[in-house]
Amino acid sequence: MKSFLVTPASCLKGQIKLAGDKSIAHRAVIIGAISKGKTAIKNFPANKDCLATLGALRSLGVEIVSKNSKIVVSGKGLHGLRKPQRHIFIEESGTTFRLLLGVLAGQDFQVTLDAGKPLSARPMRRVTEPLRMMGAQIGARCSPACRSGRVLACLPVRQGARHEEYPPITIRGGKLRPVSYRLPVASAQVKSALLLAGLYADGITKISEPLKTRDHTERMLGLCKAGIKIKGDTIFIRGQKELSSAGKIQVPADISSAAFFMVAAAILPGSRISIKNVSLNPSRIGIIRVLKRMGASIRCQSAKYQVSKFEPMGDITVKSSKLKGVRVKREGIPSLIDELPVLMVAACFAKGKTILEGVGELRVKETDRIRSMSENLKKMGAKIVIRKRLGREDLIIEGVNKLRGAEVRSFADHRTAMSMVIAGLKAEGNTLIDDVSCIDKSFPEFLSILKPLLR
Ligand code: S3P
Repeated sequence: MKSFLVTPASCLKGQIKLAGDKSIAHRAVIIGAISKGKTAIKNFPANKDCLATLGALRSLGVEIVSKNSKIVVSGKGLHGLRKPQRHIFIEESGTTFRLLLGVLAGQDFQVTLDAGKPLSARPMRRVTEPLRMMGAQIGARCSPACRSGRVLACLPVRQGARHEEYPPITIRGGKLRPVSYRLPVASAQVKSALLLAGLYADGITKISEPLKTRDHTERMLGLCKAGIKIKGDTIFIRGQKELSSAGKIQVPADISSAAFFMVAAAILPGSRISIKNVSLNPSRIGIIRVLKRMGASIRCQSAKYQVSKFEPMGDITVKSSKLKGVRVKREGIPSLIDELPVLMVAACFAKGKTILEGVGELRVKETDRIRSMSENLKKMGAKIVIRKRLGREDLIIEGVNKLRGAEVRSFADHRTAMSMVIAGLKAEGNTLIDDVSCIDKSFPEFLSILKPLLR
């Protein structure tokens, strides 16, 4: 446990560089590992989640050399992965867990993926069910309460069974059938797992999504010359075609990390910050779109030169301004799903009501973020109502202009912890956060980058 005391700041000033985007980095290294040839990845982030991906791939026999923030992956081709000696421990990385299940569905060996306690309580059936339809054999734990950890205790789940599934998960892959599958939830992790499995199927796999989610997997597969086509909300992926390595990749800075600084600069009067080479992928910049609608002063300048053009990037400058409440419809949620906690902080300081519609997926992130953020912010004086209707959940936040410092909890969730740091900067009085060690999951440099910017 590492507690942290936030004292109020008057403003934020400076120029910063951030580590690479976590989602893009996971995909660069996973897809690099199953491509033919070497992939050199620059600005690879050294956070716990991305290191978990490197560890997992190494135990599958992939050679990865890493020096500072540059890594080189020696691709094994689609069928070159090796059965690991023992279970693979994925730590807390949900993206690693779900994407790797997709790759392992195509391997001709059995392997068990295990995880730390919080990830072991997150739902996996959304990915195991369609992978079973494609022909993978999968055993999973059926209750998050049972932590026997013995994989033999994993039950083979019948297709069509109605209960949820959790890690550890044992998977035996092989030749897969192509499927036509419409995702029941908007999830980039599930979409990506199925696209990766589709690389091993005997034909063309068709995946449709209910709402557009981040498209990093599609872009990276395109770069590696996969047989991939996108028409409207449907992606077609041709199986059994080897991928060729992307060569050199520069991972843009993480927009999800940038979001904390963007909100801090927007709400603290007199602030001005600029952030270099940030990912400006349209499927990820919901936070920029919504903050602008709220009246934030944000300027994005696309980069002129990029090592590889597969992901758009550019510099972002944010100046403080008066914010007003807005309505964000459910269609807009996936493009800012990870930024909702810090957007809730911004909404507290906006004039009028902010309505965030269809945010139920927040319940199954690293913690239940509807609960963690509303409990914390209410303790500081926020006005937040959770509205349930037609099976959906909306958050209604009434701007209060003022929050007061309080003792709050991170709930062991990195984004709750960082959002509460930002709330504390603008609060009256000090804010004590019980444990910020969880921040290392995505952004270990967060506090050391933030401190010199504070005035
Ligand atoms: C991610 C997708 C999102 C996001 C997560 C990273 C990804 O999860 O919340 O932090 O890299 O694909 P879901 O796919 O569960 O929405």
